[in-house]
Amino acid sequence: MTTAIHELWLENRRAGITIGIAETAPRISFIADASGPFELRFTRDDGRIETARVTDTQRVAWPFTPLAPREGGTLRVSGEKSPDGALETRVEVGIGDDWQVDFVSPSTVASRDAPRPAFLLRAVFDEANLPGDIRHARLHSTAHGVYELELNGVRVGDDILAPGWTSYSHRLRYRTHDITDALNDGENVLGAWLADGWYRGHIGFDGGVWDAYGSDVALLAQLEVTATDGSLHLVPLEWTWAPSAITEVGLYEGETFDARMLDKGWSAPGFDASDWKCAEVLPRTSFAARIEAPTALPVQEIETLPPVSVERQPDGRIRLDFGQNISGVLRVRVKADAGHTIRLHHAEVIEDGRLGVRPLRSATSVDTYIAAGDGVEIYRPRFTIHGFQYAELENWPGQLQDGDVEAVVIHTGMRRTAWFDSSHDGLNKLHSNVMWSMRDNFVDLPTDCPQRDERVGWTGDIQVFAPTALRLFAAHGTLTGWLRDLAFEQSDQGHVPNFVPWVECGFPNFPTAAWGDAAVIVPWEMYRNDGDVRILEAQYPSMRAWVDLVDELSGGSGLWNQGFQLGDWLDPTAPPEDPGKSHTDKYLVATAYHVRTARIVADTAALLGHVDDEARYRALAEKATRAFQDEFLSPTGRVVSDTPTSIAVALVFDLFADEAQAARAGSRLLELVGIGGFHISTGFVGTPIICDALVRAGSMDFAYHLLRQEELPSWLYPVSMGATTIWERWDSMLPDGTINPGDMTSFNHYALGAVADFLHRAVAGLSNDGPGWERIRFEPRPGGGLTRASARYDSVRGSASVAWVRDGERLIVTVEVPAASTGVVVLPGSTEEIEVGPGTHRFDTAFRAAVDDPDAPFYGWRREEPTAA
Ligand code: BGC
Repeated sequence: MTTAIHELWLENRRAGITIGIAETAPRISFIADASGPFELRFTRDDGRIETARVTDTQRVAWPFTPLAPREGGTLRVSGEKSPDGALETRVEVGIGDDWQVDFVSPSTVASRDAPRPAFLLRAVFDEANLPGDIRHARLHSTAHGVYELELNGVRVGDDILAPGWTSYSHRLRYRTHDITDALNDGENVLGAWLADGWYRGHIGFDGGVWDAYGSDVALLAQLEVTATDGSLHLVPLEWTWAPSAITEVGLYEGETFDARMLDKGWSAPGFDASDWKCAEVLPRTSFAARIEAPTALPVQEIETLPPVSVERQPDGRIRLDFGQNISGVLRVRVKADAGHTIRLHHAEVIEDGRLGVRPLRSATSVDTYIAAGDGVEIYRPRFTIHGFQYAELENWPGQLQDGDVEAVVIHTGMRRTAWFDSSHDGLNKLHSNVMWSMRDNFVDLPTDCPQRDERVGWTGDIQVFAPTALRLFAAHGTLTGWLRDLAFEQSDQGHVPNFVPWVECGFPNFPTAAWGDAAVIVPWEMYRNDGDVRILEAQYPSMRAWVDLVDELSGGSGLWNQGFQLGDWLDPTAPPEDPGKSHTDKYLVATAYHVRTARIVADTAALLGHVDDEARYRALAEKATRAFQDEFLSPTGRVVSDTPTSIAVALVFDLFADEAQAARAGSRLLELVGIGGFHISTGFVGTPIICDALVRAGSMDFAYHLLRQEELPSWLYPVSMGATTIWERWDSMLPDGTINPGDMTSFNHYALGAVADFLHRAVAGLSNDGPGWERIRFEPRPGGGLTRASARYDSVRGSASVAWVRDGERLIVTVEVPAASTGVVVLPGSTEEIEVGPGTHRFDTAFRAAVDDPDAPFYGWRREEPTAA
């Protein structure tokens, strides 16, 4: 029988980059449809072959001679006796620190604080610079600003907004591109577009900042050719520059492209560049940032969407609805006279018959195209990105034809790993909306929103969303890089900025619970998801420093009860203009998180073998637990403050002194949720865990009542209003179709969508029982009138799935365990744990019929119906 290898990756980069990696001995992981032994075979470019026999599939230590910088070859994995099912990948190390060239710049002084032009850079080389017999050619590059490369008139790579946004003063990522096939005999031209981006453009809110990282924009490009004899040749490049057709561009503001200024053929041989100016050389060593290989795929064009409706407006604009709120830009195809100017406007929603642009704040999001007038022209903005579902074309010449405009979806390239489906259309749509909000907000780093003048890496948002993010997509690479930035930006005292990378635009820069806790919780969730302790090793100093800081802030008492807090942010009872004014005690939240992260650091210390640390953080966690109990719990199990978030936090973080207390609090939680008419009454902290808390309190039915609620505030209210993403506020759009008056109203924030994880784990019943999906728990919980639900997860050990179907009082449960895992099945109504091995298993059992699922009980609370006039 053939053993097929389905997936093969290095480090944690599932389906990611394999050329230009940092590790000289990358760990190897793969998924096989049968157990080992397996053969690993590495064929170096010089023909040397090494093989190894392994039985494990996860993070196998590189069994070959370590690679030198630039060295590469082909890795093949197969079942020991079945080369037919083999899978191969290229493995090639980047240049490490071996930079031989300097930055080159067309602009070292930033002009006024307004969108600035992009530049073109150009370098020419010919055969005289190249060896006779070329094995391969590599271009290693990065920039201050954002850039796109062209070689001989053809785009290099598919990176968008490269090099992405990192904490530039500490860390700048470069990319290695294979350009072997793009080289010409004779003259060759390397070109680059270069603009401000995050480095020098406008970023942040409340006015934001300009030139956050420097006053220059600059390119760093090292072109290397390896001859067939293995010798390495650095191709000398002399750069000149010229203004580009992009006359103004900002990530928030949009791009203006004057096609009349485009010098056709500028990056191809034979072009007359005699009037281009010499670029200024900026010594690489005058910048402190470490230049690193990426840990994830870049931002890319992922798919395109045609409009679902096209409508001419009374003012002559053409309105397009793409049927989906996305992050991206438009691609237009147009024929117009020279100088004809078209404006592309973007918005997430329509209000009062017009594009609802108020929530964008200062992110104008208008692209302008000035036609060259030479036939059919195609334009996609390069250096800006918008969050939108609707667009309006202003001054479009003539009629719009099918295919003239499409929306280009742009975000980090990530492998999708999870699927959920059920008999409930609303829940399915909710799940789809969460997927989209994650995609739209993983634009190189995990951001809060893709549309307004913000789009920053808020720590609290990814802290609550991390388990869901890691379920839906293989997001490890992105999060690994972002956590490096977090650690770099953490102060010596352990303080974690509220968003990372941090830009000083006036937001309070104080330690904040649930936000700063991302330093501990995100790496922990990553470890839980794939079982790889390396992220914990890497982040350990950062994790500890945060918990130590909070211990200090509590005056060593364990009770964190002073200073700035965001608390249960966006609790629906808080006024729109004051989202932090929750009815849950902020310091209860702060102390609860302190317990949680101290416990995680203790567990991490244990895993990493730091015995003394383990004892220290265990003691710290116990002290904080006692402080929490003394301050916020009555001996009989009342919680101060008496809110769903407070009780949920205490239940899910396991903060009660005994089961009797927890039971009393649990019944109070059920009561409160019932009194609230099964509407959401939790914010950023409570919402992601409220359903788990209800299950812990003994009622999955209550979780279903909450999940199926459509009245405001609820998860399904936005769905009932036609949402295609998760909103920042439950009522980002009010029932009358107007936009929430709050200044902070986005239609695309993933945080409140963290419940998607519960759909997988509890509704369908598919969860990880211990780190890395080595052991899988199948525990379906039918209810809510659903007649079926199913989930699949492509774990690092292979695909696991569960499906349940109700037929009257019959319940059929089917589970699938991948070859490298084992499972345990717990059927509804039973506590028996049924052990299962790899393969598919079917259970036919009895459970109450869907029609007998309970209705939400009445707690004497009803929304007032408007009386007919
Ligand atoms: C962001 C949030 C963030 C919050 C905290 C908002 O402006 O969009 O998602 O966590 O501020 O203050």
